[in-house]
Amino acid sequence: MKKIRVHLKENSYELLVGRGLLKNCGPFIKSLNLGRDSVVITNRRIVNLYGNDLKQALKESGFSIHFELVPDSEKAKSSEVLIDILNRISLYDRRKALFIAAFGGGVVGDVAGFSACVYKRGVPYIQIPTTLLAQVDSSIGGKVAIDLAAAKNMVGTFYQPKLVLSDISLLNSLPKRQIRSGLAEVVKYGVIKDIRLFEYLESNFDSLLELEEDALQHVVARSGEIKAHFVEKDPFDKTGIRTVLNYGHTMGHAIETASGYSDKYSHGEAIAIGMVIASEISVRLKLLDDRDAERLENLIKDIGLPTDIKDLDFGKIYESHLRDKKFIHGRNRFILPVKIGSMPKVFEDVPEKIVRDVLRQRIRYG
Ligand SMILES: NC(=O)c1ccc[n+]([C@@H]2O[C@H](COP(=O)([O-])OP(=O)(O)OC[C@H]3O[C@@H](n4cnc5c(N)ncnc54)[C@H](O)[C@@H]3O)[C@@H](O)[C@H]2O)c1
Ligand SMILES: [Zn+2]
Repeated sequence: MKKIRVHLKENSYELLVGRGLLKNCGPFIKSLNLGRDSVVITNRRIVNLYGNDLKQALKESGFSIHFELVPDSEKAKSSEVLIDILNRISLYDRRKALFIAAFGGGVVGDVAGFSACVYKRGVPYIQIPTTLLAQVDSSIGGKVAIDLAAAKNMVGTFYQPKLVLSDISLLNSLPKRQIRSGLAEVVKYGVIKDIRLFEYLESNFDSLLELEEDALQHVVARSGEIKAHFVEKDPFDKTGIRTVLNYGHTMGHAIETASGYSDKYSHGEAIAIGMVIASEISVRLKLLDDRDAERLENLIKDIGLPTDIKDLDFGKIYESHLRDKKFIHGRNRFILPVKIGSMPKVFEDVPEKIVRDVLRQRIRYG
């Protein structure tokens, strides 16, 4: 097992990464003194797969356990589901010493963390992420949110968990497409921070896709360290340091929006294309060597992630990118790599012609 400390003064916590952790999670949770009554927020699929293991582990350590199920889709991040969860917790909560466990992927993590933050002005919570994306990214850093009709994650805050417990054995049941999607975020960490992680992915992508546990443990732990590093430097996403985690996300979000968040592009697939586009823009601006851009594209292809956009309209994507909520006064903002493994540049106002040209070249019709 690997232990990583996220240093955030009184809000510091540990990130545990290992195999078979779920079955042995009781003592770790007990040592935190969060209370003896657990409310596990999860969905039907996860409960069917791993509910009994968690129940047993918590019971053995003397916790009471109460499951709250949310829908298995982004719909769980809605005001209706949030209020429903809070009402149900309040019915269960009679003189209890409650804490919440977010047991699932990023969707469950976001809505469970937000519930923990607002219920009685805050009860403690822990993250038990079950997707690769959640283990390497969304469970760490305390961003919790639900969606509005206008856009995703519009109602949210920062609320740090007391523990993140990443059991890589849980990834065995995850569809391959989800593994690839999570790996897109790992590629991102390699590009913005760690050439060795990038090289590791180049040499071990096949073991990772076969869910070889040593390889998974290595990338989940290293990704956790990198995410923690940026979170510690900029806990509230205020100074711009955490912004570099959005590498690939400017065009990635535009692709997701243009496809109506349908099944056509998963988040990881969209940001894989977004990373390629950002690196090409960087080459055009003479910030990045084109051999680095080519190396990135090759790795993304090796993992089985897309590098081109199929059956989506150029105009729609371009329009979506202009409406990005992070653009200030209409100036676009891209995170542009300057060298694989080095801190990228946050670049505002990339000439429109370059963005158009690079995007157009990535679109394949028919
Ligand atoms: N808070 C943050 O910092 C942050 C960062 C990135 C993404 N997010 C959010 O995360 C969400 C996406 O998360 P996700 O990609 O984990 O998707 P998800 O939570 O929807 O999970 C994907 C699917 O996999 C299933 N699943 C989960 N674990 C499984 C397992 N072990 N075996 C089999 N199936 C399993 C889920 O039930 C679901 O159907 C989005 O809402 C996004 O906004 C948040
Ligand atoms: Zn992402």
